[in-house]
Amino acid sequence: FDYAAPANEPVLSYAPGSPERAALKKQLAAFKAESADIPMYIGGKEVRTGKTVDLRPPHEHKHKLGHFHQGDASHINDAIAAALAAREKWANMDWEARAGIFLRAADLIATKYRYHMNATTMLGQSKNAFQAEIDSACELIDFLRWNVHYLSEIYRQQPVSAPGIHNRMEYRPLEGFVLAVTPFNFTAIGGNLPTSAAMCGNVVVWKPANTQVFAAEMFMKILIEAGLPDGVINLVYASGPLIGDICFANPHFAGIHFTGSTGVFQTMWKTIGENIHKYKTYPRIVGETGGKDFVLIHKSANVEIAATALARGAFEYQGQKCSAASRAYLPSNIAEAIKTKLVADLKTMKMGTTEDFSNFINAVIDERSFDKIAQYIDNAKKDPAAKIIAGGNYNKSEGYFIEPTVIETTDPKYVTMCEEIFGPVLTIHVYDAEKFEEIMEVLDHTSEYALTGAIIAQDRYAVELATRKLVNAAGNFYINDKPTGAVVGQQPFGGARASGTNDKAGSMLNLYRWLSARAIKETF
Ligand code: ALA
Repeated sequence: FDYAAPANEPVLSYAPGSPERAALKKQLAAFKAESADIPMYIGGKEVRTGKTVDLRPPHEHKHKLGHFHQGDASHINDAIAAALAAREKWANMDWEARAGIFLRAADLIATKYRYHMNATTMLGQSKNAFQAEIDSACELIDFLRWNVHYLSEIYRQQPVSAPGIHNRMEYRPLEGFVLAVTPFNFTAIGGNLPTSAAMCGNVVVWKPANTQVFAAEMFMKILIEAGLPDGVINLVYASGPLIGDICFANPHFAGIHFTGSTGVFQTMWKTIGENIHKYKTYPRIVGETGGKDFVLIHKSANVEIAATALARGAFEYQGQKCSAASRAYLPSNIAEAIKTKLVADLKTMKMGTTEDFSNFINAVIDERSFDKIAQYIDNAKKDPAAKIIAGGNYNKSEGYFIEPTVIETTDPKYVTMCEEIFGPVLTIHVYDAEKFEEIMEVLDHTSEYALTGAIIAQDRYAVELATRKLVNAAGNFYINDKPTGAVVGQQPFGGARASGTNDKAGSMLNLYRWLSARAIKETF
């Protein structure tokens, strides 16, 4: 097969009347008619504990999609044992043979299970068809294919030899198992975190968020069909702290590949630190955590581009992308025009279930998230420093629905300018259009995060100034675009500061973390 850079998987449109829309609708109906009984996968065996957790679409409480079987400490230990038992053969298999499994999984999604992946994501995580397509089909396929390509580039990197000396580098997997903990908001991240480590020859214990299990298990079945040997990736559902306690206390723990909250990541890091003397090898700690992503608009900006960057950047997938725009700085000269356009755009965004393809906004993921977001909105309603200029209503009677909400504040350090909300809430602040440098200073010191950000400006000097000045404020920086929607192979993704270790998902930087190199010198 070809290790050259692959083309990105084309995005299907699901236009009204198209065969792909009909096929996806059929798959949605099929899943809704079934009641899934979802096992864990440990050592290649389906494990059902009888202790079940119901799955319901976030946008439709009354419908039960099925349930999954929850594990306890014994299952986590079994998963670790199964991973370690599989390690020897997997680590020593030709890397091309390993790669073939992941390339086949990508092809299976592209050609056979695309609608299954999208339908599980639409029902389980309340993503509309387009958001599901760019995630559980295209991005997941891209991760699999691009990581094979990047890995081939890594293996090719060899030191120089000299007369009488032969040098080489061997890129080995880590000595132990990797724990992958994946979030609800991207099925592709769920797929990428275990497979990027596994592709490098590692064995994995994978714990998805409860709210991602529907799609995660679908992907696990595809990996098995693609030929993944037993025990290489073990999919378990159990409480996060329990999994952490058991995995981090194990001497064979070799790394964590995590996407989730900053708080959880920091707790993991501390626990790993406390256990450091137990491990055979220093574990790799790779995490993508929170964000408080910004859109900075310059007085020279095109109003249309600015308003679209805000509407799309803040409200696609209900603002639940870690990359979502959640604070914006509008220059006084064009602020009114941008606000008018933004509010008009939001009025066109219909809200409802994912099965009705005309809905742009669906539900937020669960009750905890709904209540937290609603609390921020309620507080803003009462605060003289804040004014709600769009949305502000919410209702959880049928599903967890929250209107796209824009808060305007006179205080650039207002709480919703600083804290991660992870929902459809954008806060804007209008600044004196002549004080661009000052507002950049404020922006840079407002949030602990540094995931994504955007500058919207026609003036090239303003673009250059922002690019230089905000060098540490975002790991993914966008010029005249929304700060979401990184494409694998085009914009490797990740941030620093409290947003993570910035080991760019979908890149060589990430794959290096799952490899341990041996330099071999032979003298003749
Ligand atoms: N990679 C996702 C995006 O860029 C989070 O929106």
